Amino acid sequence: MNTLTNQILTNQAEKSSRQQFFDDVMKGLQASPKYMQSKYFYDAAGDKLFQDIMNCEEYYPTNCELEIFAERTMDLANAILVGGDGFDLIELGAGDAMKSSYLLQHLLEEGVDFNYIPIDISAHVIDYLTSTLPVTMPDLKITGLNGDYFEMLQKAAAGSSRRKVVLFLGSNVGNMPVENAAEFCAELRSHLSVNDMALIGIDLKKNPKTILAAYNDKEGITKKFNLNLLERINRELGADFDLSQFDHYPTYDPETGSCKSYLVSLKDQTVKINGSAPIRFAKNEHVFMEISQKYTVVQADSLALSAGFKTDGHFYDSKGWFLDVVWIAK
Ligand code: AVI
Repeated sequence: MNTLTNQILTNQAEKSSRQQFFDDVMKGLQASPKYMQSKYFYDAAGDKLFQDIMNCEEYYPTNCELEIFAERTMDLANAILVGGDGFDLIELGAGDAMKSSYLLQHLLEEGVDFNYIPIDISAHVIDYLTSTLPVTMPDLKITGLNGDYFEMLQKAAAGSSRRKVVLFLGSNVGNMPVENAAEFCAELRSHLSVNDMALIGIDLKKNPKTILAAYNDKEGITKKFNLNLLERINRELGADFDLSQFDHYPTYDPETGSCKSYLVSLKDQTVKINGSAPIRFAKNEHVFMEISQKYTVVQADSLALSAGFKTDGHFYDSKGWFLDVVWIAK
């Protein structure tokens, strides 16, 4: 393909993803109650703010899971090696791969035969991983895949008949309502063969104040993270949101384990998106932004069962706040 064709294809892809973004935003803001899709949090500014969240005092999930990967590396490796040598280690939403790097390093030291296949919707993440990991781990066999999780999982499966171990860390499964998480796990299972495995990070129910504080940090980083989506809509879709007229409202319901974030309109106002008909926000009207679902261990085990997996291991941090489960496809 010549450079001009490449450029045309890139422009078309950008146009269709911008159109999709616009359609999704309009659909959510014309609905009652209004909502946004949290997958749109992660532009370059959102990625940076999420890094800041992970480093802030109140946001415990990252440190808890990091502790599991740092302190229990050998046990995690043994759990996935039960299925035998010679496998593809596929990570969905790999991010900076900080946690999985402990596992990769250990497997390399043990001379285990595996390919690491990080999948991420961000091309930037995949470029970063495929250029930096081989520097720190020269023996690592890595193939990065940029795109939708299941499309890329299918692509990975088409290119290899080896056993698969899928990592889905960071309590990303929590960013779906429970029913959608069940569908997601069932779909994951449908892309795997019997005895393939999944290693999933799940945030557990705990003291409600601890959970709420993690999504309501004193420095206001989580508030900025939510407002950044309005800024992104202003920038990319030519909207005129006045960020100072929306407030961040996080909630946690200990009965359901649902932690939800909203933006609340501070006055009656209208917003235009790229010349659209004005969208009205009443004073105190809320816009649902994100769910971060918390589970009990029993709920996590039944999620596995209903999706066609059997639970083979539970790994907790020392506070018992976070759980990494090892599932085997039945
Ligand atoms: C990426 N995800 C697991 C984070 C969470 O905890 O739900 C996103 C996040 N939102 C606000 N703080 C962190």
